[in-house]
Amino acid sequence: MRGPARIAPSILAADFARLGDDVGKVADHVELLHVDVMDGHFVPNISLGPPVITSLSAATDRYLDCHLMITDPVRYLPALAEAGVDGATAHIEAVPDPVPFFDLAGDLGVDPGLVLNPDTPAEAVMPYLDRCAMVVVMSVHPGFGGQSFIPEVIGKITRLRDFIDSSGLATDIQVDGGIDEASVRSVYDAGADVVVAGTSVFRTADPAAAIAGLQAIMDDNGAS
Ligand code: DX5
Ligand code: ZN
Repeated sequence: MRGPARIAPSILAADFARLGDDVGKVADHVELLHVDVMDGHFVPNISLGPPVITSLSAATDRYLDCHLMITDPVRYLPALAEAGVDGATAHIEAVPDPVPFFDLAGDLGVDPGLVLNPDTPAEAVMPYLDRCAMVVVMSVHPGFGGQSFIPEVIGKITRLRDFIDSSGLATDIQVDGGIDEASVRSVYDAGADVVVAGTSVFRTADPAAAIAGLQAIMDDNGAS
């Protein structure tokens, strides 16, 4: 029996004035934290960068999973590695040839991965999955938290699950955007290993209870 997917709280939905406190509410209940880096160019929003990640990595020992919504991930990867990220995922739409990104990540000791926008087909990343620790299926258009889940991406998750398993790869599938108690089960059933949850965790009165609620839905093997 497959265990529940790991939940990666997205700190984009935290209170940045109290980031350490908010991370402290979830850290004991998760293995990794999702850190959204936006450059105002690849996406129409700006979030945070190396200085905040430096503080975050000093405040927690959780795995920092860094989602790079930036036009030039190779340029910024050294600074992000220095700041303390453990894994970094770049958009295939930003790096059509991701090999230099993989090579640099290897040199820096960062686990690399690729991200697919909702309209980008699974085939765009399939040739590179043997070099990816993680492949991220966006289930919203990147740039903002709090958007509604796009159910049409379920088929893409299933196709990637089949491809990874039939190829004997160890790449984890992450799904990012709009994950809540209504959508998490379909994402898990399609084959997700990691689910990102921002609004549905941090914009609640009890983030730890919200994580437990999402895990319980994935543990309920009778439901579907
Ligand atoms: C969107 C980000 C997501 C976002 C998820 O561009 O990549 O990680 O923080 O937030 P929710 O869970 O609120 O959709
Ligand atoms: Zn993200």
